[in-house]
Amino acid sequence: MQYGYFDNENREYVITRPDAPAPWTNYLGTEKFCTVISHNAGGYSFYNSPEYNRVTKFRPNASFDRPGHYVYLRDDETGDYWSISWQPVAKSLDEAQYEVRHGLSYSKFKCDYAGIEATKTLFVPKGEDAEIWDVVIRNTSNKPRTISAFSFVEFSFSHIASDNQNHQMSLYSAGTDYNDGVIEYDLFYNTNDFEGFYYLASTFEPDSYDGQRDNFLGAYRDESNPIAVEQGRCSNHTQTCYNHCGSLHKQFTIQPGEEVRFAYILGIGKGNGARLRAKYQNHSEVDSAFEAIKAHWETRCAKFQVSSPNEGLDTMLNTWTLYQAETCVVWSRFASFIEVGGRTGLGYRDTAQDAMAVPHSAPEMTKKRIIDLLRGQVKAGYGLHLFDPDWFDPEKADVKPSKSPTVVPTPSDEDKIHGIADTCSDDHLWLVPTICRYVMETGEMDFFNDVIPYADGGDATVYEHMKAALDFTDKHVGATGIAKGLRADWNDCLNLGGGESSMVAFLHYWALQEFVDLARKLGQLDDVAHYGQMAKKVQDACETHLWDEDGGWYIRGITKNGDKVGTNEQTEGKVHLESNTWAVVSGAVSDERGKKAMDAVDEYLYSNYGLHLNAPSFATPNDDIGFVTRVYQGVKENGAIFSHPNPWAWVAEAKLGRGDQAMKFYDALNPYNQNDMIETRVTEPYSYVQFIMGRDHQDHGRANHPWLTGTSGWAYFAATNYILGVRLSFDGLVIDPCIPTNWPEFDVTREWRGATYHIKVTNPNHVSKGVTSLTLNGEDIQGAIPAQPAGSVNQVTVVLG
Ligand code: GLC
Repeated sequence: MQYGYFDNENREYVITRPDAPAPWTNYLGTEKFCTVISHNAGGYSFYNSPEYNRVTKFRPNASFDRPGHYVYLRDDETGDYWSISWQPVAKSLDEAQYEVRHGLSYSKFKCDYAGIEATKTLFVPKGEDAEIWDVVIRNTSNKPRTISAFSFVEFSFSHIASDNQNHQMSLYSAGTDYNDGVIEYDLFYNTNDFEGFYYLASTFEPDSYDGQRDNFLGAYRDESNPIAVEQGRCSNHTQTCYNHCGSLHKQFTIQPGEEVRFAYILGIGKGNGARLRAKYQNHSEVDSAFEAIKAHWETRCAKFQVSSPNEGLDTMLNTWTLYQAETCVVWSRFASFIEVGGRTGLGYRDTAQDAMAVPHSAPEMTKKRIIDLLRGQVKAGYGLHLFDPDWFDPEKADVKPSKSPTVVPTPSDEDKIHGIADTCSDDHLWLVPTICRYVMETGEMDFFNDVIPYADGGDATVYEHMKAALDFTDKHVGATGIAKGLRADWNDCLNLGGGESSMVAFLHYWALQEFVDLARKLGQLDDVAHYGQMAKKVQDACETHLWDEDGGWYIRGITKNGDKVGTNEQTEGKVHLESNTWAVVSGAVSDERGKKAMDAVDEYLYSNYGLHLNAPSFATPNDDIGFVTRVYQGVKENGAIFSHPNPWAWVAEAKLGRGDQAMKFYDALNPYNQNDMIETRVTEPYSYVQFIMGRDHQDHGRANHPWLTGTSGWAYFAATNYILGVRLSFDGLVIDPCIPTNWPEFDVTREWRGATYHIKVTNPNHVSKGVTSLTLNGEDIQGAIPAQPAGSVNQVTVVLG
């Protein structure tokens, strides 16, 4: 069953049936103001951090997707009313037609009902901390119509997300006011005129308004039947205390075939309502703000475009996976309908991995995140697992306390810096390859010399920070010389403590390889030797202790009592995705063992919806292994199709030269391929999700937690760098595809340091891997393509054979 389709020309997903089985969301905002909005206009806005500065309210779990950013229309002759989005009024789908276009940082809602065609386009203009609702109402009937429009948003109680649930003071310390077409909402206890002040404005002169939610909705009613809309007029009431909303109402008379256009503006900061109300009265200002958002994404997408025989891959890589990956880097992990702002959402490992995918499209943002992470690293080398970059940002040092002195305490250093008991064994290691990718992209070799403080005092160059990360893992190994598992490794629920983690050992090996390449490039020959030896030691330990000869795969780890996790003898948790993919991705193991390990992945973990994380799932609690044994079977880390590690298998197969396998695994997870299976998938088909129910759960195939998952960054990185094989090294642009044998050719356009490369790869002999010739502008090239002058347009031809 399908509820919509991909419109690739416009980079939009078009929802044709609004009764999709879950709210399908989108993210508006490219800078500091963000709105998470569903295809039924449910959702919320915040400024800068999902934890603080919540502008509009959301009731997670209490309802499907309410409240939201709504426009109601009312026929003032009949009293009939509806909303431009299907919800909240929910007219019968036999009488009204709805279409929703989720685009890149905008959503367009269209409704055709009773001779009135209305659209509402939501987006956040660049350079403004506000959301525009561009509304057009068109009379398609043959008689004049009198139509009233009403906005509705419910303002957040407090600027702190969690206060919306449990902070009763908020009821008495905020209030609304009305001034010249603007509902102003003042969080009285927050003395900051910017962050403590929200508004809703209209470009028209309102006929009536409401600032009190319960006046607008009426007692024992909800957003589906507000009393104000039913009666055709708001109560013209604003005041301090209780629950607040922004409703501005205007009645229009529209002649047949004619339309009216106006905007609502929802935003933050005293004075901005009046200013933007004046600015956007000029429709061309609205149009050019919208065009700027389109241009923003066109520029970013243009950095890497592919045309291949696989339309699903093209659609996702050219638009949606990049968009999702950037969304994770900017808004991180606590801004969705599942995670609603309990914290900033910046986790050390998540942010480090997310940032690795987008240095080409968003270099400034990548660098900012890398610096946040370096500041969140302690001298001993590990990263602070959960952190708020504001704690360590010198520019924020005097802003933070004034933000809200009583409600947002700044933790003391002791509270911020956790010890080894809370340290994850993988966090810091992801930083090393991410920094290398950033510099390969930008050529900013000086960055390695920048001096950045440690979280617990002292400072060091970026290069030294990287060494500290590698040294930490070197020092924290268990009895066999394999890295300790500590609180957890990438798998939050695998809590091996003093036991050992195969995945981290392999990850360490990978990071060491990247670092040795860098040290060689920088001429640091002592480091080449020292870290080269460290890598060899790790490799030997892995091959000696982690291979399960009986099963023919790599075990997942060893408990602190010396029991192996993931052997052929076990009936639960026998085969694991992380250890077997990382064995190959890291380059630490032989091709022969690598192939066997990946064959086991195919045999035990493959499903039509992607690869399971482990199989069979754990059924017996065992605290030496960790919380994973206490998660329901087939769910999340216990035997679900956990999406994030799936791309590791694509990289592994590409490294082994098995392009058909890599594509089989890619296609299985690709949400695009599930567009016509929504009765199973449930969730939006343009976004990767955190996990899909595994075969040990009755909802097998159901996708959960869309958008904010490390899958997007890794899917993008793995498919572009390893399947299409267009990637960077310190020496230049490397082209080393590993494709399905039935692909005759494909094209990639890559922009790199201001130059454009049109790359045509042909595959006359139907192989997967192996470049037989490579030319740059007609000249033969051996190895990597060196950077060409900025502004140049270059033709690259590649023949596989
Ligand atoms: C979640 C966490 C991530 C972790 C993964 C596996 O996605 O955000 O940090 O690696 O789960 O446990």
